[in-house]
Amino acid sequence: MSWKRTVILWLRLLFILPTGLPVHSQGDSHSDNTMMDNITVRQGETVFLRCLHRNAVTRAAWMNRTNILFAGEDKWTVDPRVSLQALNEEEFTIKIENVDTTDDGQYTCAVRTRTRPRTTSVHVVVLVPPKIINLEKNITVNEGSNVALLCSANGKPEPTVTWRFMSPAAQIAISEDEYVEILAITRQNAGTYECTASNEVSADVQTTEVIVNYPPTVSEGKDIGVALGQRAILLCQAESEPAAEFEWYKEDKRITNEIEGIEIENTGEFSKLTLFNISEAGYGNYTCVTINKLGSANTSMIVYEVIQPTSSTLLQDSIWRLFNRFLYALFSF
Ligand SMILES: *[C@@H]1O[C@H](CO)[C@@H](O)[C@H](O)[C@H]1NC(C)=O
Ligand SMILES: *[C@@H]1O[C@H](CO)[C@@H](O)[C@H](O)[C@H]1NC(C)=O
Ligand SMILES: *[C@@H]1O[C@H](CO)[C@@H](O)[C@H](O)[C@H]1NC(C)=O
Ligand SMILES: *[C@@H]1O[C@H](CO)[C@@H](O)[C@H](O)[C@H]1NC(C)=O
Ligand SMILES: *[C@@H]1O[C@H](CO)[C@@H](O)[C@H](O)[C@H]1NC(C)=O
Ligand SMILES: *[C@@H]1O[C@H](CO)[C@@H](O)[C@H](O)[C@H]1NC(C)=O
Repeated sequence: MSWKRTVILWLRLLFILPTGLPVHSQGDSHSDNTMMDNITVRQGETVFLRCLHRNAVTRAAWMNRTNILFAGEDKWTVDPRVSLQALNEEEFTIKIENVDTTDDGQYTCAVRTRTRPRTTSVHVVVLVPPKIINLEKNITVNEGSNVALLCSANGKPEPTVTWRFMSPAAQIAISEDEYVEILAITRQNAGTYECTASNEVSADVQTTEVIVNYPPTVSEGKDIGVALGQRAILLCQAESEPAAEFEWYKEDKRITNEIEGIEIENTGEFSKLTLFNISEAGYGNYTCVTINKLGSANTSMIVYEVIQPTSSTLLQDSIWRLFNRFLYALFSF
């Protein structure tokens, strides 16, 4: 490895290693090279690189691969994040602030004790919280089409990515990787999809909306009986995406709010047609047509006349009922 040669060259220049040592001297009886446990640090945090001496030290240096960071108390690197923390009989410690992924790697402390040179290496592992970098934007599709959702994320270690569908009833896991593929999407598949990218550091969660367009379906209209001069209310309900427009017809003639004695109110998926004070001409066949850009649907309902019982017919009715009850009571003895 060429960086090892460079390190050894530096050490010689700094008089830490005796010049006589061969380049392949690692593990040689003249020097003492040890590997410390990995140091795990999160991106943005501060890491301390501590090198302990058993014996009094004549010279010491901390290196990042082939570059000297500190030689004794002399700072060799221009990186402002690196500073000396302690240099004394027991330890030689430097600190690196605001650690980034490029700092990941091996660091070596080389010391020359009275007896022999010694190097201690440590691997700094920089962890990065997951970040979703590419998530499918909110999308609108037509029912029946195929949909692919993508969610990709950065992080270290490599985050695992999962998808859930946040249906009104439950949160359903639908994918264990970056992709979700929905073949022949239905209106039931419309809603919020949530992507989670997680690793041992943390998790990033983001959502995307899927809107599924479909043509209107209209509920069957109900025929109603109304007495002359009374009010008739006709209801029409349509399910659709996007929301439907409503049109009302009597037989083949379009009816609108401009017509005297008529009111049309549209709210969401409902349209309400009110016929105030119905006349003979008001009876007949009403059709509600619902339309969106994908299609239309209609339903018809008949408004028919009923004879409103007048107060005199009502009186006759109740006398007749009373008389019947009297007869029944009489004959049940
Ligand atoms: C230290 O980190 C390196 C790089 O991530 C890895 O290859 C090695 O297995 C780790 N060693 C230990 C002891 O964890
Ligand atoms: C360590 O070396 C790498 C590669 O040259 C460099 O990108 C990084 O900034 C260095 N880190 C420090 C703390 O010197
Ligand atoms: C996606 O849709 C949601 C809900 O309709 C909305 O709150 C959000 O702002 C939308 N995002 C984008 C990027 O359009
Ligand atoms: C209902 O209409 C009839 C005939 O057009 C009219 O004579 C009557 O005054 C109306 N009643 C009301 C309450 O508007
Ligand atoms: C009412 O009108 C619609 C549309 O014109 C028609 O399809 C339907 O058969 C009519 N209903 C009756 C009972 O005449
Ligand atoms: C109502 O729907 C039928 C088919 O369902 C269609 O034939 C008819 O033309 C529609 N009527 C109107 C007024 O849109």
